[in-house]
Amino acid sequence: MRVLVLGGTGEARALAAALHEHPGHQVVSSLAGRVREPRLPVGEVRVGGFGGPDRLAEWLVAHHVDAIVDATHPFAERISASAVLAARAVGRPLLVLRRPGWTSRSGWHWVDSLDQACAVATSLGERIFLTTGRQGLAAFAGSARWFLVRCVDPPDPPLPARARLLLDRGPYTVDGERALLREHRIDVLVTKDSGGSLTSAKLDAAEEVGLPVVVVRRPAPPDAAVVESVDQVLAWLRR
Ligand SMILES: NC(=O)c1ccc[n+]([C@@H]2O[C@H](COP(=O)([O-])OP(=O)(O)OC[C@H]3O[C@@H](n4cnc5c(N)ncnc54)[C@H](OP(=O)(O)O)[C@@H]3O)[C@@H](O)[C@H]2O)c1
Repeated sequence: MRVLVLGGTGEARALAAALHEHPGHQVVSSLAGRVREPRLPVGEVRVGGFGGPDRLAEWLVAHHVDAIVDATHPFAERISASAVLAARAVGRPLLVLRRPGWTSRSGWHWVDSLDQACAVATSLGERIFLTTGRQGLAAFAGSARWFLVRCVDPPDPPLPARARLLLDRGPYTVDGERALLREHRIDVLVTKDSGGSLTSAKLDAAEEVGLPVVVVRRPAPPDAAVVESVDQVLAWLRR
């Protein structure tokens, strides 16, 4: 069985590794090509957008794909929508692998968008730690507050006028995150509800030092069956 894994996450790499070991499965992982030096999954990898749902559908047929697993980030809405349409168009089964979101803690402020995150964060403090990734930072560009912006690769402008850029990709430790919050005298942390443990140390550190956290809610999941673990994907493929 030839499986396309839409990737860009730790779960997608774990799935590719599991399928690689699995007799009877051929896996090809797909990356968007956004990160300059991506962590590559084992096995065959292709890089770059497909060109929308119709082109993805053609790609599935041309590459004899039998099943698709969308293991992209919970906020990667366009590729997930594309996968639903393409899978339907060519009659291939699609499963979504999504890590669970984080459980709310005291001091968390839930919002629906980066624009709302900016409004709430700027009402909560002067020095704001932004960990929402390099996309969408324009939402904060009009703010006069000071920002620490952490992302993997340099973001495209516009950025807030008073911003310090920190290029890093984790995983992070609670000690390291606590030290960072202290060093930059952070008043408020902004994050997406990415879930998982790779980036959750900042939440523990913020809770310890009593910082408010602004959390952007996930978009609605794609219109397909969703599971939370690699084992569940393997069971689905066996069926
Ligand atoms: N959004 C986040 O916060 C975030 C965080 C960590 C990792 N990521 C990873 O980074 C990648 C891009 O995220 P995004 O939010 O920019 O996605 P997006 O908005 O859903 O996708 C934008 C376009 O990029 C292409 N694309 C996205 N993921 C792809 C993949 N795995 N393989 C091939 N093409 C892909 C598609 O182009 P075409 O329409 O031309 O096919 C898609 O329409 C995803 O793979 C995601 O898993 C995202």
